[in-house]
Formats: sequence, C-alpha cells, structure tokens
Amino acid sequence: MARVRSVFRCGECGTGSPKWTGRCPGCEAWNTLVEELERLGPSGAAPSAPLERPVPIAEVDVDEWVARPTGISELDRVLGGGLVPGSVTLVGGEPGVGKSTLLLQAASSIAGSGATVLYVSAEESRQQLRLRAERLAALRPRLLVVSETSVPAVLAHVADVAPDVLVVDSIQAVHDPDLSSAPGTVAQVREGAHRLVQEAKRRGMATVLVGHVTKDGALAGPRVLEHMVDTVLAFEGDRHHALRLLRAVKHRFGSTADLGLFEMAETGLAAVPDPSGLFLADRRPGVPGSVVVPTMEGHRPLLVELQALVVPTDIPTPRRSAQGLDAGRLSMLLAVLDQRAGISAGRCDVYALAVGGVRVAEPGADLALALAVASAVTGAVLAPDLVACGEVGLGGELRQVASTERRLVEAARLGFARAVVPFSAPLPPPGITTVRAATLAEAVALVGAAPT
Ligand code: TYD
Ligand code: MG
Repeated sequence: MARVRSVFRCGECGTGSPKWTGRCPGCEAWNTLVEELERLGPSGAAPSAPLERPVPIAEVDVDEWVARPTGISELDRVLGGGLVPGSVTLVGGEPGVGKSTLLLQAASSIAGSGATVLYVSAEESRQQLRLRAERLAALRPRLLVVSETSVPAVLAHVADVAPDVLVVDSIQAVHDPDLSSAPGTVAQVREGAHRLVQEAKRRGMATVLVGHVTKDGALAGPRVLEHMVDTVLAFEGDRHHALRLLRAVKHRFGSTADLGLFEMAETGLAAVPDPSGLFLADRRPGVPGSVVVPTMEGHRPLLVELQALVVPTDIPTPRRSAQGLDAGRLSMLLAVLDQRAGISAGRCDVYALAVGGVRVAEPGADLALALAVASAVTGAVLAPDLVACGEVGLGGELRQVASTERRLVEAARLGFARAVVPFSAPLPPPGITTVRAATLAEAVALVGAAPT
C-alpha cells in the first residue's frame, strides 16, 4: 500500500506546510491552507512509464467511447445518448430534489440492460435503498448496493465487483480516513473526487457522483470539482411543484443545450412528454396581465404563461418583483413601456412571474412580458388564443429571435391561433397566423392593451 503524508497547501501560492495555520507562511494570505495527501513512493523509484504513446490524431480509436444509454429518456437526452465509459458525471442539486431517486432509477435501468452497476450510498443504509428501490420497481440482480463512507473501501468494492457503472451518493459524504480533516471539507471532497476520477479513467468505468449544492445554487465544496469531471448536470426544481429540470452545465461529450423534464410522482421520477401542456394546464383566461410566450429551452420549444400584477402604492420606491424572470429585464421593459408606449407603472408595485416554477430568462420573452405588464396596467384582457414572442430594444423597436418558426409550430400544436411577432419574423407555419408589429407601441395597440 502506498504511504501517504498529509500536507497543508496554500490555494494561492502553493506553499506547503506540515501543520495548519491561519496565515500562509509563503504569501501571508489568510485562510488559504487546505489539507492534501501526498503519496510517498519508494525513494529512488524509476519514473513511471507512460501508459500511452502519441499517435496521429486520425488513428485514435473511438470505438470504446460509445455512450451507454441509461434507459431514462430525459437523462439520455441531456447526456446526448448516455454515459460514456470512463467518464465522470457530477449530478448537483439541492437536498430533496430527487438526485438519489433519479440515479437509483438510472442504475436499475442500466443493470436491467445487462451491465453491472455498483451503487454506493454514503447517506442511506442498504435497507433504506432497498425500500426505495421497491417503490421504484428497481430491484435487479445486477444492481449491487453498499452503504459505505470511506473512499479506500469504495475503491476496494470497485476492485472486487468490477462494475461497468459506479454511482457514489454523495461526494460530500465520503471521506478518506488518511486525511485528518472532517468529511465534507474542501480537502476531503477534492481528494475523494480525485481518486474516484483516476479510478474511472483507469478502468473505463462510467462514474456518477452526486453533489449537494448550497442555497445559491453553487456546488458545495471546491469549484475544482467541476474542472475534474467530464460532465456537470444540474437537477433543479421547486419544492412546491412536482416539476424537475435537468440540464448540463458542462459536457465534454456533447451539447449543453438540451433540457430534461421530469415529474416527481409516487413511484419516482417520470418523463414529462408534453411540458407545454403541463405549464398551461391551470391557466384561467379572462384575467388581465396574462400572456403566453413560446420560449426555447435548449432545442425544445416550451409554452409558458407570464403574469403581471400592478398595484398602486404610496411607498416612494415601489416594489419590482420578478419570479422566474430576469429582474433587470423587467426594469428595462417598464422603462421602455413608459418612454416609448406611454404606459407607466410608476406609482405602482409590479409583480411579474413565469408560471410553473420554470425560469424564462431569454430576450425572446421581452414582448410577452411587456404585453403582460401593459395588460395589467390598462386592465385590458388579451385574447386567450394569443401568444407573443420577440425582443424589445431600448428604442421600443421589436427584433425577431432565433427559432421563431419552431416556437410557432409548438404554439399551433397547443391550439393557439395568433402570434404577435416582430415585423421581420418569418412566415408562420400552418395553423397559426401572425400579427406583425415594428414597435412595442404598435404591438400594444394591436392586442388592444393601449391606454385610452
Ligand atoms: P431524493 O431522491 O431522496 O432526493 P435527494 O437525493 O436529491 O436528496 O428524493 C427526495 C424527495 O422525493 C423525497 O422528499 C420524497 C420524494 N419522492 C417521491 O415523491 N416519490 C418517490 O417515488 C420517491 C422515491 C421520492
Ligand atoms: Mg439523496
């Protein structure tokens, strides 16, 4: 067994110290020392022989790099096909969002296709895992589970079982007993991930690490974790909604544009085949301040209702609240409405939200949001079969956005008959007509929300 020595190294200048001190002895920065393990080889050992030799790029063998589908369609969509052998994927999300559920379902599905999967839980007992797996109908002979928190023990299990796919739930809960720092600390998370990544590459074993995120959405632990892995997936969702969104934040094997949508049900996570229908299910027509926007999430068009509410107030600086929308964009649109369309929400609190816990941050939603505010200010109800998409400029001009046609096809599919679009937008697909406007003021007038 390799001998190890613990050193405390400065994250700024790299100076090593045998003991932890609050201030780096090298560069005198405060609180920068982090514990690391140094492996001590036998002295005088020959430098290790390289595993590979350089080859012409066209001769690199890519056959072994074929992704293995997980069998969970929405996960495979985000991964661009599946898990690549030897790759390391980090799945981040807040506690309770459903990371363990998703990975147990994926592990079971992979095991059902004939591969061996080792699921290491550092947070739950084997009994808890089994009960959960029963609920998910995920019991498979080739799905092996172990409850383990020590990294060397995990590596021993891997050597023993030689799995095709390894899941470690979670990276913050495993630790290396050779390090004196506590589990979950930066040093522990980094060292644990480092050794698991090495093992994944050496064995060609696809590895999935679960990572907890802090309240502001960043991965708990060192940022270096994101650099060490091939793929980072963010699993998001609103605790109060069943909807869960899975997106790739970083992906060495494909695009980061695609979005996976799940619904948390009694028997685990289910794919959402018709997300637009889901978002619009509870829509009540006939209320001012509501406009539907065909937005793009990656390559997928998604219809989302935007709502605005405007309430007179006496406070000198009225509230501006944007939920699921960009607050800066809302302020800009209020200014443009005021200056270019004669619609002022000046002495009012303004609340705006994207319905369903989804986040709509693209400029393509400008026009719909501006029309929702205009409708809320004037009290005019917009036609229920209307959608709007387009970017609004500071001059009040409307600009077309990418993928307008795909957005309108989706709107037509869901029964919308008219779309308010910028003048330059392409011809509409069958089933929907366009109402064209060059400026925001024109669009406001065309939908009947102009001030009288
Ligand atoms: P979990 O996967 O444990 O979340 P994480 O690993 O991200 O912390 O799932 C959390 C929630 O999901 C839990 O509150 C219960 C709920 N849940 C269901 O609604 N249905 C199910 O079938 C399962 C397994 C969990
Ligand atoms: Mg969990």
